[in-house]
Amino acid sequence: VTESAAAASSTEMTQNADTIGSVRQQLANLMRESLRATVPELDGEEPIVSACNNPKHGDYQCNNAMGIFSKIKGKSTSFKNPNAIGQAIARNLPESTMVEKTSIAGPGFVNIVLKTDWIEEKIYRMLVDGVRTWAPVLPVKKAVVDFSSPNIAKEMHVGHLRSTIIGDCLAKMLEFCHVEVLRRNHVGDWGTQFGMLIEYLFDQIPNWEDIGDQAIGDLQAFYKAAKVKFDADADFRTRGQQAVVLLQGGDERYRAAWKKICDISRREFDQVYKRLQVTLEEKGESFYNPFIPDVVEQLRGKNLIVESEGAQVIQVDGYEIPLIVIKRDGAFNYATTDLTAFWYRVNVEKAELIVYVTDVGQAQHFDMVFKALKLAGWLPSEDQIPKSKHVGFGLVLGADGKRFRTRSSEVVRLVDLLDEAKTRSKDELISRGKDKEWSEEEVEAAAEALGYGAVKYADLKNNRLTNYTFDFDQMLDIRGNTAVYLLYAHARICSILRNSKKDIEELKKVNSIQLAHPSERVLGLHLVRFAEVVEESVTNLLPNTLCEYLYSLAGLFTDFYTNCKVIDSDEETSRLLLCEATAVVMRECFKLLGITPLYRL
Ligand code: ARG
Repeated sequence: VTESAAAASSTEMTQNADTIGSVRQQLANLMRESLRATVPELDGEEPIVSACNNPKHGDYQCNNAMGIFSKIKGKSTSFKNPNAIGQAIARNLPESTMVEKTSIAGPGFVNIVLKTDWIEEKIYRMLVDGVRTWAPVLPVKKAVVDFSSPNIAKEMHVGHLRSTIIGDCLAKMLEFCHVEVLRRNHVGDWGTQFGMLIEYLFDQIPNWEDIGDQAIGDLQAFYKAAKVKFDADADFRTRGQQAVVLLQGGDERYRAAWKKICDISRREFDQVYKRLQVTLEEKGESFYNPFIPDVVEQLRGKNLIVESEGAQVIQVDGYEIPLIVIKRDGAFNYATTDLTAFWYRVNVEKAELIVYVTDVGQAQHFDMVFKALKLAGWLPSEDQIPKSKHVGFGLVLGADGKRFRTRSSEVVRLVDLLDEAKTRSKDELISRGKDKEWSEEEVEAAAEALGYGAVKYADLKNNRLTNYTFDFDQMLDIRGNTAVYLLYAHARICSILRNSKKDIEELKKVNSIQLAHPSERVLGLHLVRFAEVVEESVTNLLPNTLCEYLYSLAGLFTDFYTNCKVIDSDEETSRLLLCEATAVVMRECFKLLGITPLYRL
């Protein structure tokens, strides 16, 4: 850990109250002052503030009283029970423009009701200054998100699709919070399979240097054929193994062949990234190769590496098997590369947070790597920088409840899968006559937004650790909790705004938002919670939190629109601005989820 990184972790996030986007953070700052006054003996007690579970009790609550009571019980005589502490916390809360009133419930929960005019003002400022001004403050400034990361020449499967979708969303949320994000594609471009592939290339296509990439055709089939030969032919196997040595030794011809194979794979991956509009910067396993010997030496210097059955390993707590760093044949492996990549990311790239997005099957690998890094003193305890997190996710299942496969039980080509989502959406638009109303480009664009958006949202809306069932009918249903439903909800708000024939930019010149009707206030409160939801979602690395927020937002808007007349009502200006604010926040949610918003449907 560098010294500056350690120092950064302890810097308290102090910011002018009015510029903080997150209402929860803003209330927590007020509460911090109250706690300091209430229990000065507990230096720097961290406020626990959350949205009220039951809206009847209030908008937010502070849950510190019970914890404080158990800490000071017997030591202080000033409070006889948690409730008394809650009373004091409420009394000591500094005057502010945001809090209307407080009340104490049960064992000292402090319920807080926000001032409605404060919510109104906050929404209005967001409309004028932009939703980016609501970005929450995070304790890190630079992060690596290691995601997608397919393996060259092998299949890019639905697991990589999940990694791509989840990783992109996490990167976007971090970016929204002003974190500099290095979007890393840690492709598997190194390893023993390349020896076999290169020899097979030399055998099958002697003039491989002169002909285009098409020569290899389907790289996956090529890989399979090479593997068959490798398993059956001892001679070929020996050549394959020697090829690895030549490649790693830097032999020019082998390097060129390796590069050719990587390029072909890369082009296939790019087809997927282009459709999903995901940007990644490739730093594959091979990139870290030159740094490995030094990192291994450093670990050796810390006496962490021991000999076990001919291999060099690190023993980590809680596992019978050790983490292998150098294999019996002298080669480095997946773990060695991850130890080295961590070293590089922290020391060269100065990342304060490193997030790895892979299926949960790799949880043990990362746990062992993190434990080894802790032993090395490179990864500090939880609340310090740098932080390292494995973001695991469950399987993608087919309708039969088994691992997702196509009918022919062959692997699913991701490009085909995405194209089918688009085609189905396009057919639906055409069946609704949109091809007569819109230009060809508009139909295409809408079909892409709906189709790709549906695939992404279906993936993101569930807790990532659970398996999810890939079902086109379900994800494209306009009535469910789907991207299609949400895109329609947004387009409907846009059509209300259009139908009003009012210029929203003109309306914005007057501060006139009023949350008078209960449905308006509920909607308004939900809107100002956007920042803390992003904060929660990104802190826990759980995109489903943001999806739930967006889905509720659409529902609350429907309630509002059902209960409150907008166009030609006395409150028209205020209500149109509330429509606009809802649309703005919905669009920001779409953006963070990687979904392209549609303005009419
Ligand atoms: N290539 C790996 C796979 O397909 C994922 C790599 C994840 N990132 C890492 N730093 N290990 O399973």
